Amino acid sequence: MTQKFKNYINGKWVDATVGETYENRNPANGNLLGIFPKSSRHDVLKAIDAAHKAYLHWRLVPAPKRGEILYRVGQLLVERKEQIASEMTMEMGKVVKETRGDVQEGIDMSFFAAGEGRRLLGDTTPSELPNKFAMSVRMPIGVIGVITPWNFPMAIPTWKIMPALVAGNAIVWKPARWTPWSAYNLTKALEEAGLPVGVLNLVFGFGGAVGDPMVEDKRIGMISFTGSTDVGTNLQARCPKTYKRVSCEMGGKNAIMVMDDADLDLAVEGIIWSAFGTTGQRCTACSRLIAHKKIIKPLTEKVVARAKALRLGDGLDPKTEMGPVVNADARAKIHEYVQIGKREGAKLLCGGYMPDKPPLNKGYFYAPTVFGGVTPKMRIAQEEIFGPVLGIIACGSLEEAVTINNETDFGLSSAIYTKDVNRAFHAMRDIDTGLCYINSGTIGAEVHLPFGGTRGTGNGHREAGQEALTTFTEWKSIFVDFSGKLQKAQIDEVKVAKK
Ligand code: UN1
Repeated sequence: MTQKFKNYINGKWVDATVGETYENRNPANGNLLGIFPKSSRHDVLKAIDAAHKAYLHWRLVPAPKRGEILYRVGQLLVERKEQIASEMTMEMGKVVKETRGDVQEGIDMSFFAAGEGRRLLGDTTPSELPNKFAMSVRMPIGVIGVITPWNFPMAIPTWKIMPALVAGNAIVWKPARWTPWSAYNLTKALEEAGLPVGVLNLVFGFGGAVGDPMVEDKRIGMISFTGSTDVGTNLQARCPKTYKRVSCEMGGKNAIMVMDDADLDLAVEGIIWSAFGTTGQRCTACSRLIAHKKIIKPLTEKVVARAKALRLGDGLDPKTEMGPVVNADARAKIHEYVQIGKREGAKLLCGGYMPDKPPLNKGYFYAPTVFGGVTPKMRIAQEEIFGPVLGIIACGSLEEAVTINNETDFGLSSAIYTKDVNRAFHAMRDIDTGLCYINSGTIGAEVHLPFGGTRGTGNGHREAGQEALTTFTEWKSIFVDFSGKLQKAQIDEVKVAKK
């Protein structure tokens, strides 16, 4: 019997009001995994009501106690890591080694945020006036609308939910329609860890039907979004109308630069992992290889040989190195970009097709694809493809590589392979992205450092790290005057001369 799942609103598992549902299917073979609610405005409003009410109590729970609940969530995720990872592989396709990593990132974030319950640091600082005390404290924002993508169904929700909760906010969460099972698993852990009723509400469903009521409701003080540039740009235009803060993490067009002095074999490892890991569907994935012309030939040969040899298959099979992409639309978009690349004059070196032999023909597989002869302004070098497609661009110097790296609309991650410490430091200073790797690929950010990007990738906020607290809190500056008289800041006291 196929399991039927429910929304989690005000501490209860409930069907969507209208009773509509949708199917969750495995992208590797089309198998039905579960039936989930297709929610509407009514459900979202109930979730906001619950969160709003719960917030009034939750904000007064001491932060270390809030942290203890998150600690228990982390422990539950540790116990369930294998089960959650395999269910995630089934619903979104990436190989189980990587879904374990995704759950691990959720565990790391739970423990990291739990510890913040005993810090949540603000400043104490002198006042400019005598017998007066000054400090700044972090206050929760209120109800946060959390909208998350399918490519990291555990890591990314925890980047948002854990810091938001430890800071005293309540949550309405809309997970991606493609990964509801993982969202259920995280919510179950939060429930079992003892999160009070109404503090987190989970509403399953599709795009605007769930997202729009969240954006329009004044009781939601912030939307935290990770996903497409189109949706993020739309949110940035709409959220201020109801005085909402909005934090967006959107596209990437990340590059690995390989200099002529680099260890090429090491670089190939990083390139293959960054370009084809998660089937190229990470915001941090490498889709451009900027190679020094002195080594571009041997490097290209090695990369193409490795890409061709990657084993495609069901992500649950431990021998599989690359799973399917998430759905039919994603695959069609990738294939369309490959045609664009060919039309633009790039040279298809491998891949560029959908495997049609069983069992791969049952799923949304796409062959690892490498283009040579790519130039920096081609669309395949500028636009996010979000699939296993790598374009190789030649450069003649570090300066040229950095310029090519920086000249896209996005600024999430970049990497450089070089043995020259001077070049490495020049790159660290001059590349305009939020993440930067020396002698490793573009993927693999850790939860205790800020995550996010410049320019079109984000809108100035960062997730993870201590910075996450700033994203999910309001600062309050507090002045305590214990002089017993009226003291006026910034006002010169006029001394009246005695006659
Ligand atoms: C994403 O692709 O949106 O740095 C997140 C990484 C992972 C997170 C990626 N830790 O690649």
